[in-house]
Amino acid sequence: MAAASTTTPGGKTLPPMMTSLRIDPSGQVEIVDQLLLPHTVKWDPVSTPEEAFDAIKTMRIRGAPAIASLAALSVRSHLSSAAAPKFGSPADVAAHVGPILDYLESSRPTAVNLAEAMNRLRRVLKSVPTGGEAEAAALVEEVKTASFAVHEEDQERNRTMGRLGAEWLWQQRGGKDGKKGLKVITVCNTGSLATSGYGTAIGVITALFEADHLDTAYYAQTTPYHQGSRLTSLELTTLHIPACMICDTMLGSLMQHYDIDGVIIGADRIVRNGDTANKIGSYQAAVLAQRHNVPFVVVAPVTTVDLSLETGAQIHIEQRPAVEATLVRGKNLETGGMSVVRISPEGVGSGPEIWNQVYNPSFDVTPAELISAVVTEKGVAVRAPGAKSIDVASVC
Ligand code: MRU
Repeated sequence: MAAASTTTPGGKTLPPMMTSLRIDPSGQVEIVDQLLLPHTVKWDPVSTPEEAFDAIKTMRIRGAPAIASLAALSVRSHLSSAAAPKFGSPADVAAHVGPILDYLESSRPTAVNLAEAMNRLRRVLKSVPTGGEAEAAALVEEVKTASFAVHEEDQERNRTMGRLGAEWLWQQRGGKDGKKGLKVITVCNTGSLATSGYGTAIGVITALFEADHLDTAYYAQTTPYHQGSRLTSLELTTLHIPACMICDTMLGSLMQHYDIDGVIIGADRIVRNGDTANKIGSYQAAVLAQRHNVPFVVVAPVTTVDLSLETGAQIHIEQRPAVEATLVRGKNLETGGMSVVRISPEGVGSGPEIWNQVYNPSFDVTPAELISAVVTEKGVAVRAPGAKSIDVASVC
């Protein structure tokens, strides 16, 4: 599950990073089942768009860039397989692939990277409007190339974002009062398991570490799915980055008692005015950061920016099944295997009664007025003092 170790520009050797997805020389795509992490590493082949849809919907793979990669790669696998029809014209290719893209896009609604990846393939489908079998075959190759590029382009830009974000935060907070390393907080999981490698917010934390500018990375458990306690913990411990897990309820206490230098999060969708949808719990971290005068930084590739929406009120927030909030999954200490344990009384989350309701949005929206800066691979957009929006178009 791990890529090769890397030596950083500063001469630090990082242990191999985890990966969520791998492709063998024959082109077979496999994903690590993230529902079983960190205790069990199980690779599952994903060969068809249907299998990719199911893996994304059930969160065996998750994280905005990673689900876009898998969806795109499943189109490539399908077009390379014996199940792909013989196409007589480019129009046949578009008629066949178009509905597959619509289907994959519907698997999760909030992360715009998935929609953007499917739009990229739609643009390729439109690029060859006429012709016969030869043009159809060439178009199929172009779609496959673009599908692979969705995955391949992700890792390099993450390194750029990591460097830009780390430099910006160090300029804001480094060196003050003789400070040698920053204390930062992150939410959810944004590292190599959520992307094609290196990560977004975790990329900034890794870059701070590589530059010897990190004191401690605090990470919230991120209930109900525990992306923090299961996945971010695994990434940070694998990289030997100084880290400390906190319960989601401890964010305020931590900011009260420790000199925190920044809250750094990823994003699932950033809209034109800078409002940002990210994992549930991000908004409360932003409110607390403002109260404690801590910079709140959003790190995401340009593919996460949706300039078609004006404000966060227009973002479709995914509601997860109620039952997910009533369960905890983890290692059974008696059997050593994975177990799913119900922590709420029977009926909670499943009955029509008014005392059995569960509120389980997967994401929340942080208003731009609480965000200090948005980092993409193109640069850092900083909110002007007192402004209620951020010019994210300037870093797209
Ligand atoms: O529901 P998830 O686990 O897919 O949510 C993931 C997040 O919210 C991440 O913070 C976001 O996708 C950015 S990941 C680089």
